Amino acid sequence: MTTADHVKALVRSHAEGDDTRFYSVALQVAARAARSGQSRFAQELRDLVDELRKAQGQTVVAPGRPIPVAKPRGELADLLSISYPAKRMADLVLEESVREQLLRVISEQRQQDRLQEQGFSPLQRILLLGPPGTGKTMSARALAGELRLPLFVIRLDGIITKFMGETAAKLRLVFDALVETRGVYLFDEVDALGGERARSNDVGEIRRVLNSFLQFLEQDESESLLIAATNHPELLDQAIFRRFDAVIAYPLPGPELARAVIRNRLANVPVAIPAWQEIDEAACGLSHAEITLAAEHAAKDAILVGKDTVTTRSLVDALSERHIRTHS
Ligand SMILES: Nc1ncnc2c1ncn2[C@@H]1O[C@H](COP(=O)(O)OP(=O)(O)OP(=O)(O)O)[C@@H](O)[C@H]1O
Ligand SMILES: [Mg+2]
Repeated sequence: MTTADHVKALVRSHAEGDDTRFYSVALQVAARAARSGQSRFAQELRDLVDELRKAQGQTVVAPGRPIPVAKPRGELADLLSISYPAKRMADLVLEESVREQLLRVISEQRQQDRLQEQGFSPLQRILLLGPPGTGKTMSARALAGELRLPLFVIRLDGIITKFMGETAAKLRLVFDALVETRGVYLFDEVDALGGERARSNDVGEIRRVLNSFLQFLEQDESESLLIAATNHPELLDQAIFRRFDAVIAYPLPGPELARAVIRNRLANVPVAIPAWQEIDEAACGLSHAEITLAAEHAAKDAILVGKDTVTTRSLVDALSERHIRTHS
């Protein structure tokens, strides 16, 4: 990026309240300054970013973003949690077809007024399927981030266990909230509604909850985006699939995407020229989340022993370690 691009990116991320991107561009400016010999300025800028990041702590509501109109209170607060994610689509490493489908959802949501004027409804209910750690929850956060909407997460298994017998009534409260506060609503672990998962004496209850859920889905006329996610699609009732406008499958990353996950995570860390073939083999079969953790582990190893670069060896070791953990 040129200086002009950096300034534009800074202004844009400021306007969008995207602190993460703002600081990341500031660090790119520092890196560029360091390369061109302005090491003092580069260091001062890095220190400033560190200081400000620390001062801001890990607040979920980034400054400059809309403040929640209605924080869930009372009963609702037990059913869902709210956040204002700053994640963007660019943070995700995805198969092209998955990315395209998510971008389509964003585009239809952004232009819902135009669609509705002509009698069409935007894609509004999407079901995400795939193994753990492939980016389903992160996608919900990125959709909320891109659409500048609050993200509400509903843990169905938690609700069912906690409110046995009253679950359907609790679900109604959640669906009422969809109408009242436009947002992205993530129903995580919807396989909790799969009868097979229930203990035998709970089957009747699960069935009732499933029926209410299907009914609420069908009656939902809110302008909220409803996302359901599961890593056990085989437990889902076929009737659930039919209620969704789009079903998106998240596969484990192949070698190319595994490399992208590593590159992304180590973007700000010097890496010795990697022997990709060895890394590909070690990453094969691991999820995005596991590869991310392995990359972090390797980077921290280098820092802890005072080395300036991450080596192929340490990456391969960290990836192999994840295999052992996952499969033991
Ligand atoms: N597609 C991806 N691109 C980049 N990073 C990813 C991706 N998927 C996962 N990660 C990393 O792994 C972490 C966990 O991923 P996430 O919570 O989205 O997984 P999930 O698919 O929701 O898993 P689960 O089924 O267990 O809920 C993320 O915070 C991120 O660091
Ligand atoms: Mg998840």
